[in-house]
This record gives sequence, C-alpha cells and structure tokens, in this order.
Amino acid sequence: SAASNSMGKRHHVENIAHRGASGHAPENTMAAFHKAFWMKADYIEVDVQMSKDGELVIIHDTTLDRTTDGSGLVSEHTLEEMKQLDAGSWFSNEYAGEKIPTLEEVLDEFRGKIGILIELKSPELYPGIEEKVAEALKDRNMDKPRNNKIIIQSFNHDSVIKTKSLLPRVPLGVLAGMSWQDVTDEELEEFATYADYFNPNQNILNPELVERIHDKKLKIWPYTVREQEQADRLLKLGVDGIITDFPEYVYHHPRPR
Ligand code: G3P
Ligand code: CA
Repeated sequence: SAASNSMGKRHHVENIAHRGASGHAPENTMAAFHKAFWMKADYIEVDVQMSKDGELVIIHDTTLDRTTDGSGLVSEHTLEEMKQLDAGSWFSNEYAGEKIPTLEEVLDEFRGKIGILIELKSPELYPGIEEKVAEALKDRNMDKPRNNKIIIQSFNHDSVIKTKSLLPRVPLGVLAGMSWQDVTDEELEEFATYADYFNPNQNILNPELVERIHDKKLKIWPYTVREQEQADRLLKLGVDGIITDFPEYVYHHPRPR
C-alpha cells in the first residue's frame, strides 16, 4: 500500500498477514497462509514453538486447547501427536482437517512467494529454539538477506539478541507490548544496536513516538489491526508496515486477485 507520511513523502507500507489472513481462515494454518498469499499480502506472520521431540511447530498459544481439538501444553506433545489434531474446525467446518504446520513446511511452501515474519513465541519455554530456527533457515540457504524476505521477532529481547549471534544477516525485530508505552530514547537506541524493527502494540503509538523510533533508524510494524479505522490511523502516522488479521484493510483499494 502507498501512503503519505507527515513529511508528504510516499512510501510502500508493508502488509503483514497476522498468523496468516486469520480474519478469514483459521490462524497459523496453511489455509490462512495461502489466503494471505492470494490476497497479495507482503508477509505472513507465524508463531513458532517447539514440540516435546524438538520439532518447530506453528501455533500461537502455549496450549492446544483454543485452536485445536486437543488439549494441554504444546511442549508435552510430540509432532506426531500434534499432527493428528484438527486445527481448523474451531474456526468453521469449512476448514475441518487443517493441521498444525511445522516451520519447515511453511518455509518450503512459501519461500520466494511471500515474506515470512517469524515470531519466537515464549522462547524461554523452549531452550535451544533459536538454534533450531537458525538451522532450518541455514539448511535452506535462507539466512542471507538477498534470499527471500525473512524477519525474526520476539517479545523476549534476550532471545532476539541470541538470534543475532546465530543469524547475523537476518533482519530482527523487537516486539513491544503496552508496558513499553514510556520507552525512552536510550532504550530505543539499545534496540537499534541489534534490531531493525520496533514492532509495538498499535495503542502505544502517537506522532511523537513514531518520530523518536524513526530517529533511531528503526522501522515500525505495529500489531494487531482488526478494524479499518485502526489501519487508517496507522497509515496516517507513517508506520512502515501493518500487522493485521485483514490484509484488505491496508489497501486503499482492494487489489484484483
Ligand atoms: O506480530 C506481532 C503479534 O503477533 C504479537 O502478538 O499475541 O498475536 O503473537 P500475538
Ligand atoms: Ca504473533
């Protein structure tokens, strides 16, 4: 999407489909990722966790209950066990039989087609997850900036720093929830020493903060837009990308399929 910021300069605003086009299809499933691709989003956002047997799985909650017909902790189930589960029916019958994808399946299916914003979800629960993600990317030669659009982000900033040492050439983002609404210039400067993106809860953003973040040369991709008015406000503020359940809200005009 093209937008004008307060300086009147037009720039492309990246359209990031949150957990896939999760307003239209069950979050973090291949159906939601394909939908985002068809809707011409620039990136899919995926939440990565680790199974009991050390496989990287794409699911948001640390438990299976909300988005599958299973229950209990992700960390206490093997990949094989989780592959038996239905990750689509909770959303609608139309999606019955959708499976929990692995990170490797998503990389293989979407590399070169759409950008992938990888969130390390609760990495403190999964010792070694940063190494596993690094290995999955290196195996595919996807750890070089010229290859595809891959970004890794986390609310756990120590995990982002660790990822920097493992994948020095992959762009990184720090996620910032409401508790960062009084973030200082010093803290932003520190983030800028290892990250390229500062991705905040949209509700902490105002014109002054946008300017202070940009002064540190960090890009801003706020989350999570679920209404057109929210997208409009952020576009006006001059953000660099918008993480949304509804990619169509980031377009000024729906694009032809
Ligand atoms: O991409 C940012 C956003 O996904 C963070 O919040 O809870 O949806 O993972 P959450
Ligand atoms: Ca996420």
